[in-house]
Amino acid sequence: MTTSSDQNTPSAQATGALSADLTGRVAIVTGASSGLGARFAEILAENGALVIASARRVERLQALADRVPGIEPVACDVTNPDDRRALVDGTLARHGRVDILVNNAGRGGTGTALEETLESFENDLALNLTAPFVLAQLCGRAMVEQGAGSIINVASILGLVSGSPLSQPSYAASKGGLVNLTRELAVSLARTGVRVNGIAPGWFPTEATEGVFATERGRDWMIRNIPMRRTGEEDDLDGALLLLASDASRYITGQTLVVDGGWTSR
Ligand SMILES: NC(=O)c1ccc[n+]([C@@H]2O[C@H](COP(=O)([O-])OP(=O)(O)OC[C@H]3O[C@@H](n4cnc5c(N)ncnc54)[C@H](OP(=O)(O)O)[C@@H]3O)[C@@H](O)[C@H]2O)c1
Repeated sequence: MTTSSDQNTPSAQATGALSADLTGRVAIVTGASSGLGARFAEILAENGALVIASARRVERLQALADRVPGIEPVACDVTNPDDRRALVDGTLARHGRVDILVNNAGRGGTGTALEETLESFENDLALNLTAPFVLAQLCGRAMVEQGAGSIINVASILGLVSGSPLSQPSYAASKGGLVNLTRELAVSLARTGVRVNGIAPGWFPTEATEGVFATERGRDWMIRNIPMRRTGEEDDLDGALLLLASDASRYITGQTLVVDGGWTSR
């Protein structure tokens, strides 16, 4: 991995800071139709990977693919077993390998501690925890055969600490589960050449966080509690992504990199 001060390639300019050589790698990014996932897909592609960008809103994926070379859109509801299998089998059939899986699709909880319904809790676990597990298994089997691979689970600071005064039991449980699932899979696969790590973002403006960013009260609350006194910007996760996706992290597994301006260190 190099910085833009080391070289002047288009990809280093595009990321504004970092680049990695992912030429020849095949990556799957879930939830790539908006927010962080769209950025992850773009950055991996700009650094040489062929990226299978998946989500339910295919027209958004197509728009991304039209704008960024190296992106292939694939419709996939990650909570649907047939879709999950088709996503991975299709990737292997068309490209013969999968080197990087970014388990990014997810959403926030919809109820407070004593009010969240069982249905909401189970739905959030299915999306935020079960789907990443199954996709890690499906891709992991191919990666073990290849003798190499990198699985990146997108967790959250709310999987590490309470979200108080926000109360989102299903989100906290699913993201906390994802952090420890990352350790479990990493240790189980450590001798196969497959690494499993996570990224725990702090607060970034996306469709998922619209509500908090929309009000002055919400923005004040975030800024007051972030030691760096700013929320995450578009390129703030690029470094963590490229580190974990590339061979620069060849001796790192089971870790969840927290990118939060200091929120969890208070
Ligand atoms: N933004 C933040 O501050 C923040 C902080 C910590 C963690 N995160 C995590 O980052 C990830 C991305 O979130 P975001 O903030 O970028 O939110 P976002 O813009 O709402 O993106 C969520 C993505 O997940 C996809 N998705 C939702 N349900 C899906 C399903 N059943 N099957 C396939 N894809 C599905 C959505 O695509 P479709 O609707 O097209 O399917 C969308 O592309 C999530 O895991 C989130 O928990 C975000």
